[in-house]
Amino acid sequence: MGERDSRSDAGITRRDLFWGAGIAVGSAAIGDRVGQVVRTTEFETVVGSAIEPFYGEHQAGVRTGMQAHGVFVAYSFSTNCNSETLAGVLRVATSEAERLTRGEPGLSDTDPELAANPARLTITFGLGHTVFAVDSGMGLSSQRPIGFDELPAFSFDRLEPTWSEGDLLVHVAADDPLTVSHAVRHMTRVVSSIAKPHYAQRGFVRAQGVAPLADVPRNLFGHVDGVANPTTDAEFDSHIWAGADAGWFAGGTQLVLRRISMKLPEWDTLGSKDKEEAIGRRLSTGAPLTGKSVHDRPDFDAVNSRGLGVIPEFSHMRRAHTGEGRQRFLRRPFSFDDGFFPDGTPNVGMLFAAYQQNTTEQFLPVQQTLADFDILNLWTTPIGSSQFLILPGCDAGGFVGETLLG
Ligand code: HEM
Repeated sequence: MGERDSRSDAGITRRDLFWGAGIAVGSAAIGDRVGQVVRTTEFETVVGSAIEPFYGEHQAGVRTGMQAHGVFVAYSFSTNCNSETLAGVLRVATSEAERLTRGEPGLSDTDPELAANPARLTITFGLGHTVFAVDSGMGLSSQRPIGFDELPAFSFDRLEPTWSEGDLLVHVAADDPLTVSHAVRHMTRVVSSIAKPHYAQRGFVRAQGVAPLADVPRNLFGHVDGVANPTTDAEFDSHIWAGADAGWFAGGTQLVLRRISMKLPEWDTLGSKDKEEAIGRRLSTGAPLTGKSVHDRPDFDAVNSRGLGVIPEFSHMRRAHTGEGRQRFLRRPFSFDDGFFPDGTPNVGMLFAAYQQNTTEQFLPVQQTLADFDILNLWTTPIGSSQFLILPGCDAGGFVGETLLG
């Protein structure tokens, strides 16, 4: 049947429906209209004009449902950066970021047209360890939050300085790559008087509309990734957001960003069963090997006829499992695909972003267990590592960082 034949009474083509329905399922508000005839332009506008609130107790970009595109931009402070100049820049950066997230150009925007589609833009600010170093000249060494300790070297690390550390973080994410690019460009200009770019790590999840938002995304190994994550207010309060006892840092969270290279050609030589046992979940549904659907609770006690764990002892999921315990943290992994190295091997992997109240009590022991042994280490190598304090949020009229620097 030709496209002409598929035209509905309302004059909509099959192509219109394809695009319309695809984008519609990405939004609960318009999801009900899937199957109805709705003009493409309506959906396009819905994705482009969607706004994530900027102000609040916590910064956006942590609990926010993951956008399609994300970039972590780390900057190095220039010698003129001190607590006063940093406060001044964060004040301006806050108000410029807030404007961009609601589709308004920044006041000093050189390309205001590019701000028109916020597409759920979030701009999240963080500070690295150097800010709290005794010799930083900032005078903030006594303000370092508990648990924000530098991670030790792990045996399997092959860290490259290019992808590690950083003094200031601006994490930008949106459902439109052009929006992300413009925001990074603008924010880089805004902070340029005190900081120069160190790296930009770009990643992606999946486009808006290709699957219902509630579906857990997949990583480049083909597995669903992000199932065992905190979701409720209570879980965020007990594991992710710093509490009132954290003083100036209350409402913030600690980020560990690991750049992990993935050996896809080697992974691709495995059969499905091996790929499933390496993780402990099924490729098709994402269900644990002891369950039927993705959110079924894994049964780590179940054994097969040979007395071995159905979820194997060596599986990544069992090794990393924290249950409801103190170590639990939030994982927001972006994939990256940067083409090929000169020898033809793919330059691909994961920007593994872990958020928690206390890095030493939560991330560190899990990472140590995986470094000691994780079957996934056969196909993955950490090549970058950075830690940032994601600052508490602020109200209109305030600025991100005010509780530390204001
Ligand atoms: C490229 C590297 C990695 C890949 C491909 C990967 C993939 C996965 C997958 C597919 C799952 C199962 C689905 C889910 O619960 O989300 C999972 C679970 C998990 N991963 Fe990873 N992961 C990687 C690195 C890491 C690292 C570096 C850590 C921590 C240091 C980590 C911690 C966890 C945790 C805590 C779970 C949940 C386990 C549970 O309680 O069921 N992963 N990962």
